[in-house]
Parts: sequence; C-alpha cells; structure tokens
Amino acid sequence: MRCTVGVLVLLSRPFSLVAIQSFGQPHTTHTMSSDPKASIAQMEKIVSLCKRRGFIFQSSEIYGGCGGVWDYGPLGAELKRNLRTAWWNTMTREREDVLGLDASILMNPAIWKASGHVDTFADLMRECSLTNKRVRADHVDPQSGTVLKYSGAQSPTGWRWDRTITALTKSGEHIESFRKRIRALIAQNAGEAAGKPEEIELVGEEKIDAVNGSVDFHPETGGLLGEARPFNLMLKTYLGPTATEDDVTYLRPETAQAIFAQFKNVFDSSRVKVPFGIGQIGKAFRNEVTPKNFTFRSREFEQMELEFFIKPDEAVEIISGEVAKWHEGADLSEPQPNWGWELWHRYWVDQRTKFYQGIGLGDVLEYYWQTPADLAHYARACVDILCEFPFGTEELEGIAARGDFDLSAHQTASTKSQEIFDEELKTAAAKLTDEQKEALIQKRLAAEAAKTKGEPMPEAAVRAWFERLFKGSYVPHVIEPSAGLDRMALAVIAKAFSETEKVDEKGKKEVITVLRLHPRVAPIKVGVFPLLKNKPELVAKAREVYALLKKHMNCFYDETASIGRRYARQDEVGTPFGVTIDFETCGEKGPELQDTVTLRHRDSGEQERVKISELLGKLLPLVS
Ligand code: GAP
Repeated sequence: MRCTVGVLVLLSRPFSLVAIQSFGQPHTTHTMSSDPKASIAQMEKIVSLCKRRGFIFQSSEIYGGCGGVWDYGPLGAELKRNLRTAWWNTMTREREDVLGLDASILMNPAIWKASGHVDTFADLMRECSLTNKRVRADHVDPQSGTVLKYSGAQSPTGWRWDRTITALTKSGEHIESFRKRIRALIAQNAGEAAGKPEEIELVGEEKIDAVNGSVDFHPETGGLLGEARPFNLMLKTYLGPTATEDDVTYLRPETAQAIFAQFKNVFDSSRVKVPFGIGQIGKAFRNEVTPKNFTFRSREFEQMELEFFIKPDEAVEIISGEVAKWHEGADLSEPQPNWGWELWHRYWVDQRTKFYQGIGLGDVLEYYWQTPADLAHYARACVDILCEFPFGTEELEGIAARGDFDLSAHQTASTKSQEIFDEELKTAAAKLTDEQKEALIQKRLAAEAAKTKGEPMPEAAVRAWFERLFKGSYVPHVIEPSAGLDRMALAVIAKAFSETEKVDEKGKKEVITVLRLHPRVAPIKVGVFPLLKNKPELVAKAREVYALLKKHMNCFYDETASIGRRYARQDEVGTPFGVTIDFETCGEKGPELQDTVTLRHRDSGEQERVKISELLGKLLPLVS
C-alpha cells in the first residue's frame, strides 16, 4: 500500500512505496517467480490472449500506443463489470453499515494539499545522463559490465556535446556495438543538429572499470544515472479557460479523498451511526514513472475503496468498559460493540479474504503485515494482500488502520468540523468519576510519550481532546481496504489461464487454452449451441433457450463450426457452461428427453441432461 510519508522525513498520506523502499522499508515486489523465462512466456501468452479475444487492448494502438494506459474490449468490459458488481454488492448493498458514493474525479486542489499529496505523493526517480530517460529508483536491477567514459561528442555538422558521457556495456556486448548504440542514443536525444548517428564522433574514450551488481546505470540505455529525486505522481490539469497556475488542479490519484471530503455530507444526510463505512469505485490517475507488467501498474486505473469509520478506542472503552483484544482464532464473524481499531482491522482483512475466495483467488493470496518500522507515524497497522502473478507475488489490495489522520487533516485545512456527536458516548461518559476520567487521560498521555514516530500530542491538546470526547464528540477513526480493479482483473485472468494438449478430430495434437474463470466473474456465463445450424427446428429451439437465459445473464449464441470447436472457443474466454440443443431436445429420441438440453461444465467436462424449464434455476445461483 502506498502510504503517506514525506520524502526526507517520511511525511503524510500518499508517500509511495518507492520512497519507503529507499528508506530501507518494504516495497511492492515481494517475491519473484522461480523461472523468469517461463514467467515472461506465460505473461506473453496472457497478453496475447487478452488482445486476440477482446479482453484488453493497448490504448491508442493505431497511433503507436499511449504509455501505461489500456482499453478493455468487449469481454474485458464484462469481466470488469462483474468484478465491480461483486465488490459493490459485497461491500455496500449486502451490508447495513456501508453506503455508496460516486464523487467527481476533479476536485478543489486544496483537498490534495491537505491530504499531503501535493507535497509528498512522490516516487524517488533517477535520470539517465545520456538520454534524460527516468526510471524509478527501486526499479533498477543490478547490472554488470564495463564502464566507459567519453569527454564529449561531436559531428561533421558542427554540433558538439561538451559533456562527460559515462555508460555501461551490456552483458556480452562487443565494444563496436556499444559505441554504435551510444551514438544512436546521442543522435536520438540531440535531434537533427547532430546529423547521422554513424558520423558522430565519441571523444576521448576511457575505459574506467568493470562493475558487478551496480544499480547506477539505466537498465535500458546503460547511461549513468543521476541522484534519486522525488517525482510527484499526480497528473496536473487546468480548470477553466485561462489555464493559468491559479487554475491548476489534479486528476485524483486515489478515490479515498473524495470520501473524506464528503464524509460529513453522507453522515448528515443518511441517518447513520459510527461505525459505518462509505464505499466508492472509480478512476484514479498516477503518472507512474515506470508503468509495467501489462495493466498491473498503469497510469489510469480504477480503485474500489472503502473508508470504514469507527469510534476511537477511548470512546469504545467508555461505552463498553473495555476494548476487546485480538487473539489468534478470535471470532471475526460478527462485529461487536467492544471492538477497537485492532479487531475492526482484522475483521476487514478477513472480509476481504472471503471476497477473494468468492471470486476464485483464495489459494493464491499472501499477506504482508507492515512492521512498526514500516508504518507511517499516524498508521496503526497496514496489511498488503498479495497475489501470485506470473511476474511475482505482488500487491492486490492494502488494508490500513489510519486513525483520524485524514479527517483531522481536512478539518484543519478546511476549518470545517469533521466531528460527529455520539449520544451513547455522552451518556456513558457522564457516569464516569473524575478519577476514571483522569485514568483514561493518563493512559493516553503514557501512550503519547511512548511514541517512537511522529510528535507526541502535547498534554494540553490531549486534555482538550478528552474534554470533547466526554461530551460525546470526536473525529472518527478509519479502516481503509483499498483495492485496484485492474489488478484484480489481471489476477483472475492470470490465475484462470491454463493450457492443455488435445488431439483434434484429424488426430493432430494442439494446445488448447482454457480460462478457468470463476462463474461469478466470467464475462460470458453460458454458450448456447444448436447441434447443427442447418436444422431449423434445432436453431429455433436454441434461439428460444438463448432468449430465455439472455434476460438474466450474459450468453453467447454460436452455430458455426463443429460443436467441439465451439466448446473450445468458449473455454478460451472462460465461459463456464455450454448448453447444446440436439435432436433429443426436439423429442426425436422419445418424449422423456423432449425439451431437455445438454449442459456442459467447462472445468469438469461433465455433461448432464437438464430440462429447459429447470435451466435458469440451476444456472443462476452458480453465476451470481
Ligand atoms: N487510498 C489508498 C491507496 O490509494 P494504494 O496502495 O496506493 O493505496 C490501492 O492503492 C490499490 O490501488 C493498490 O493495492 C492497487 O490494487 C491499486 N493501484 C495503485 N496504483 C496502481 C496503478 N498504478 N495501476 C493499477 N493499480 C494500482
């Protein structure tokens, strides 16, 4: 999870994992696949399938693409829609304590200042001295080779480059190929003035040294990298026609801030009580320095975020007399009034795990619990739910316990109170003796004094906070499960991708791709096939079945090619069920089979005879 801390003294919310990593803390790549070549080959097959069958296309492909941006084709759009619906239903509709929000992408830039994004939402990045190409500081793999240095370059056009050029040869690269490559890079960078690359003269060549495992050279160009510098990831734009610096705003880098900014409106308009949550699904934009791994790290992506607001632990203690402690095996099935942040955090990790199990990712999840040293000063806990991708085990979702950091930051910056009033708390606090109140204050002061990160809250501020709390007022704390829709789509495709060898009707071996998508997320739920297309009675019946199912789920009607080929086409896009209308359906093999169809199950290959009248009842629970 990208948290916020600063660049020098890890600052506030959005500070990136790269920044964390450069301070010796965790980063997104947790394990690498054991065989890198096999992983690349597997990823290539997935990317190729996604394009061939209309799941994911490169954005603006006919113009050479647009870095880090992807389009979802017909099947990708359905898959994403199913994931979105699964998240929305699980996280909002099926719960009584979560409400939905659909906020705008563009917001007042003051929001991004208050949240810390303007000042600290940065990746550490290094620039190639040869080409000015940037690379994320933590994305430079160790390289070995010979370092060569030149005092400059010049060409017969009169163009000169009076600048030291230092670059690393690639493994096994001949010196002549290296020089040719460097000339080409210089020519590319200098433009027309430098003339033809082959006519550029590299001046004063010096062989410096052989290096082993160096991270100081650009992975693509080999050029020496400059110092790591923060690079803000927010995409700037202008609101209004004058387009001056006063009109600058940003495409939101996360959906969460809109939830915080609208917290009070939702609370006041919805008659809810803390604990409750606000969920939102929407686009987010980050000018990632090195977008990579297909859609995994994109510049435009979709997030599904929940901000779940809870009482501060002190309020729970006042109302319930104690705050329940988490222990291994604790019952997390039903939230309890005496839960503090720790149990709520564990509860959401559990809920999110169940969600992933429900879409077929249960057995490819891992968890990374940030250590106290990893955590931002305001965060109490943060767990990354990781998933096995062909390129390694990587973050799918982050679940953070963020205290009251976000709402308090907006309260301070906007000067609009984000406190809520809790009658139950006021009543319970009125029953406390002065000694009991003082004991609570002393406990908090001791906790502040024991803080190893951030400034302890001064005693006067602690006392003022308790004064408001005893009157029933506080700024809620928050637990934030934050998932990426595009990563989830990629995760389910990667998990589902499988190949089997089959012998076709002519005895030829072929490799068949089967996408074993969970029926809940599969873009097409059922393929409907008349056994033969030249038998009007079969076609008419198949059309009837298709019309019946189509109203309730996404179906695909196909009458071309052999039935085996049609099954294979649907297997390749992950359709879990196939319905074949044959002569039995039309009553040619006796009345008992009339109006029954063959229902084929993709994964088991099992085929069963089902009455058309029972088909919908059988399929609906399996696909929703
Ligand atoms: N509000 C908290 C937040 O935004 P984050 O860890 O930066 O935390 C949450 O992002 C999730 O959003 C990630 O776990 C990931 O699934 C998704 N995400 C973040 N950056 C992404 C990117 N560049 N491309 C695709 N998904 C991304």
